Amino acid sequence: MVSWRGQRSPGSATIGSMSFEVADTLDMSTPGAKRASYALLVAQVRALLEGERDWIANMAQFSALVWQSVPQLNWAGFYLARGEELVVGPFQGKVACVRIPFARGVCGACARTREVQLVEDVHAFPGHIACDSASNSELVLPVLAGGRLVAVFDLDSPLTARFDADDARGFADAVAVLAAATDWP
Ligand code: SME
Repeated sequence: MVSWRGQRSPGSATIGSMSFEVADTLDMSTPGAKRASYALLVAQVRALLEGERDWIANMAQFSALVWQSVPQLNWAGFYLARGEELVVGPFQGKVACVRIPFARGVCGACARTREVQLVEDVHAFPGHIACDSASNSELVLPVLAGGRLVAVFDLDSPLTARFDADDARGFADAVAVLAAATDWP
């Protein structure tokens, strides 16, 4: 039995000028439901970040929204690009590795290539860094601002093959909204 953080009851939230239900656990059970859920997530990111351009605030809020609404995760957050190294940024989940060289791990591969890394089984990925032994699959996306790598967004799951191309697309859309809504240092 694979377990992850407990599901909480849905609640309503007023975010920016919008008030809406924050779906505590978006429905990802079918391809159609998943598409609709990512469209809702992207709209919620846009509303959540409206009127605020601070990068720490926006990364923190983004991580919390994903953690609150996306099922079957055990870590969600950012590693910031600092030279040839990544340094942990705002995140939700257990304490994690602080510094990751670009040469190492799934996050490093994303930073190095600036390409989405979708890893169905992290134990089969050479150089994977196990911050939490409960993680079995991982999705990492580059956060690009004006062509510059500012961070990567890392998602871990206790389920093997938790993420597919639809998840990668959905999160890429959400990250693009964050990148455009934020002033980066
Ligand atoms: N597994 C990642 C390290 C970061 S943690 O999962 C939070 C990697 O291999 O880069």
